[in-house]
Amino acid sequence: MTTIKGIVFDLYGTLYDVHSVARHCSEYFPGRGLEISMIWRQKQLEYTWLRSLMGHYLSFEEATDDALRYTCSHLKLPLKEDVRATLCNEYLKIQPYPEVPAALAELQAMGLPLAILSNGSVRSIQSVVNHSGLEGRFAYLISVEHVKVFKPHPDVYALAEKTMGLHRSEILFVSSNAWDASGARHFGYPVCWINRAGGTFEELGQQPDHMVSRLDELPLRLGEVVSR
Ligand code: LAC
Repeated sequence: MTTIKGIVFDLYGTLYDVHSVARHCSEYFPGRGLEISMIWRQKQLEYTWLRSLMGHYLSFEEATDDALRYTCSHLKLPLKEDVRATLCNEYLKIQPYPEVPAALAELQAMGLPLAILSNGSVRSIQSVVNHSGLEGRFAYLISVEHVKVFKPHPDVYALAEKTMGLHRSEILFVSSNAWDASGARHFGYPVCWINRAGGTFEELGQQPDHMVSRLDELPLRLGEVVSR
């Protein structure tokens, strides 16, 4: 049985709900909030992947900003400068999923160091985590900023192993993003996919080791895989 000695979480879409910005989008574009937020997120991810392939890193905030401008242009919605700045700023304050605070407390009480490994910059990760008051839960907040390439590049996944001082086989990687779970599994982490929406896993040659539908199912599942 694998000995899990630490847990690494993805941030956007895993612990924190990126679509909590939809409400703010609706304030400026009534009735269009979720539509904007969905395209915005998809384009944000595409821009991180494309930037990585181009070998031209920009911060996650810049990719987020570019993606919002694309989204409004695509939907033919005029985007004023102050609204753009306000909405991008809301990305620094997205909300955790409802079950996350209690589930993290439970996992921390199991004595395992918890970490976040995210495409976000150091500033973005700290802002989101501090805003939710969950900073005390994490031993490490790890940003791609240190390697200047985005997930699913292996150099990013290597950061968690190095930072936590554990072998990849000892770290459970938890993500709701199936492409991220695939990248982490390919790197060599045991992976738990949080499949909140009943989605389909990616066909990238990997399968998650565990699947849950909410984070609060993980403590029980961990009890089955952690040998202490
Ligand atoms: C992150 C994005 C990919 O937090 O969800 O890294």
